[in-house]
Amino acid sequence: MATLAYHPSLRNIIPISLFLHSLLAFSFTALARPATFTQDFRITWADSHIKQIGGGSTIQLVLDQNSGCGFASKGKYLFGKVSVAIKLIPGDSAGTVTAFYMNSDTDTIRDELDFEFLGNRSGQPYTVQTNVYAHGKGDREQRVNLWFDPAAEFHTYSILWNHHHVVFSVDEIPIRVYKNNEAKGIPFPKFQPMGVYSTLWEADDWATRGGIEKIDWSKAPFYAYMQSFELEGCAVPGPSTCPSSPSNWWEGAAYQQLNAAQARSYRWVRMNHLIYDYCTDKSRYPVTPPECVAGI
Ligand SMILES: *[C@@H]1O[C@H](CO)[C@@H](O)[C@H](O)[C@H]1NC(C)=O
Repeated sequence: MATLAYHPSLRNIIPISLFLHSLLAFSFTALARPATFTQDFRITWADSHIKQIGGGSTIQLVLDQNSGCGFASKGKYLFGKVSVAIKLIPGDSAGTVTAFYMNSDTDTIRDELDFEFLGNRSGQPYTVQTNVYAHGKGDREQRVNLWFDPAAEFHTYSILWNHHHVVFSVDEIPIRVYKNNEAKGIPFPKFQPMGVYSTLWEADDWATRGGIEKIDWSKAPFYAYMQSFELEGCAVPGPSTCPSSPSNWWEGAAYQQLNAAQARSYRWVRMNHLIYDYCTDKSRYPVTPPECVAGI
């Protein structure tokens, strides 16, 4: 199961300039406008494979036999909500992985919140894998099959991160909740700001049906599209009181736990679309991981 892990070497992250950091710190606490690609992101891997179309409103990511590609936010945030609308690779996308994630970009005590979209053969469902790294420990994969064709239209994928929990949502439907159970000794990402990243790459050694289905390069190039970026959170460096301020909207009562309707949707996803949960994988975890027992 080690093959489920990321390949950090593919990330090729460039350090952000200090100048930009101080600019962010003075201009705002929380980004209160829709993010734009040029202002808020930088290309981290293969700019020849990333195109801005529609006057910059939509980003086209390209994967071919020469390269995949990637980009990252210029800023880092401590708590907040990030979202993006994505139209995934249509048709035969087996062996491809499109990722959207937050990452502290620190080696040993990495925090990371991942969405990974695992392609499939034509007509077979895309899988969304989520993972949570807290204080350097990951291996918390869950997978759901999507209930729509994510290559037909744009759908919104978001990560809400506050002091109470992390919620991964698809079109505002929660598909994963990682609760802050620090009181029970369970690590929760809380100290390190995270940047927002996206990559499109080939992972046919593990992505589709455990690596059985290989990428069909005769179908290349593969295209995924992204638009409507939203980044809201406490910029770091920035005012040091921001991350702990209860007046940030994402810390408000409505975001501290799922409401009744969200809880119902979440149960529906888990009952009908969950196809893998590390919590119940006895071959990997003979002893159930504590966060699974502590519940949501
Ligand atoms: C691809 O389709 C197969 C068959 O429906 C399914 O078992 C699998 O979970 C799907 N997703 C991936 C990533 O293999």
